[in-house]
Amino acid sequence: MDNLITLVNKLQRACTALGDHGEESALPTLWDSLPAIAVVGGQVLALPSLPRVLSWFLLDLVPRHICAGRISRFAGGTSSGKSSVLESVVGKDFLPRGSGIVTRRPLVLQLHRIDGDREYAEFMHQPRKRYTDFAAVRKEIADETDRETGRSKQISPVPIHLSIYSPYVVNLTLIDLPGLTKVAVEGQPDSIVQDIENMVRSYIEKPNSIILAVSPANQDLATSDAIKISREVDPKGERTFGVLTKIDLMDKGTDAVDILEGRSYRLQHPWVGVVNRSQQDINKNVDMIAARRRERDYFSTTPEYKHLAPRMGSEYLAKMLSKHLEQVIKSRIPGIQSLITKTIAELETELNRLGKPIANDAGGKLYTIMEICRMFDGIYKEHLDGVRPGGEKV
Ligand code: GDP
Ligand code: NA
Ligand code: MG
Repeated sequence: MDNLITLVNKLQRACTALGDHGEESALPTLWDSLPAIAVVGGQVLALPSLPRVLSWFLLDLVPRHICAGRISRFAGGTSSGKSSVLESVVGKDFLPRGSGIVTRRPLVLQLHRIDGDREYAEFMHQPRKRYTDFAAVRKEIADETDRETGRSKQISPVPIHLSIYSPYVVNLTLIDLPGLTKVAVEGQPDSIVQDIENMVRSYIEKPNSIILAVSPANQDLATSDAIKISREVDPKGERTFGVLTKIDLMDKGTDAVDILEGRSYRLQHPWVGVVNRSQQDINKNVDMIAARRRERDYFSTTPEYKHLAPRMGSEYLAKMLSKHLEQVIKSRIPGIQSLITKTIAELETELNRLGKPIANDAGGKLYTIMEICRMFDGIYKEHLDGVRPGGEKV
């Protein structure tokens, strides 16, 4: 099944590379039908300005308790820990950090497990460049974000595609989205709050998307942006995975057992708790391996969580998601397959129209995607055993 995730990854990239060419064909539908995991969570910006806070109180624009909640959220620093979760799933530091809206374009992150001990990264917009320095990957994500948004700190729905090849990852496709916010910061239009929400929604409302909803344990779950928006598009919690961060930062005498055992907010899939590196750890350069070991120790030695330890932590999360993604792809094969058949036929027509031999760029890309479709076709047939088109068991 490893092959299947890899092929879906290739299809996703090919569909994107084809860009505007896909308009008249089945390609956009094909892209939408490919399952991927979208990561959502809230993020804290800067403190709202004092006049703004005063105006909330004076004008009574919002009920007072909500206003107080807002202020304490900002002051308390309740970022959901989305970047930290992504980095520990990958096992590498590679995401831009900082205050303000750092993630301003979707990042389609494809993890490929390879043999050997090499680890490297490639961006789709730099096909011939191989990165072995992950600090340079981080810089390129930031630069490529600015190239599209013109340093205006605006957001853009145009995704950045990054592939990471490593013996230490599981095959997985994750889409990092801008963090949901409540208030625009200095220099950003107020519309940015709604724009981010709309962008996040456009990804997670697709029935094929799997939602990784990241919420911090030191904040009331009822106010979690991630839970709020995922409940909207997936009310039964069928395709939402709840991730609880910052368990180590909870007030003394409180614990997250009710949440982790699914009693606070019920989802069809079990909740996973994680303990990421604190800001102090990051400043002290605590590496990922040490952080993962400490996370394991935390769950296995804390009396409240001991019984849950085998299904807690970033490593477990990564493995569980990869397994789930495989299952979803497997169950969607008949649907994907019929779209691919349609796409192959359309691509053939298009290639004939362009004329052979294919000299131009568009022709080359069409040819590539057709090849990938055919490969998928082959693998699909190998995995057909036991499942008939339509999905029912034989
Ligand atoms: P994002 O804004 O949602 O992407 O959040 P980040 O991943 O950048 O995390 C924000 C801050 O919270 C950083 O200083 C992290 O070190 C810290 N942090 C994230 N997760 C945890 C956690 O589980 N425990 C602790 N102690 N700190 C965390
Ligand atoms: Na949140
Ligand atoms: Mg972040």
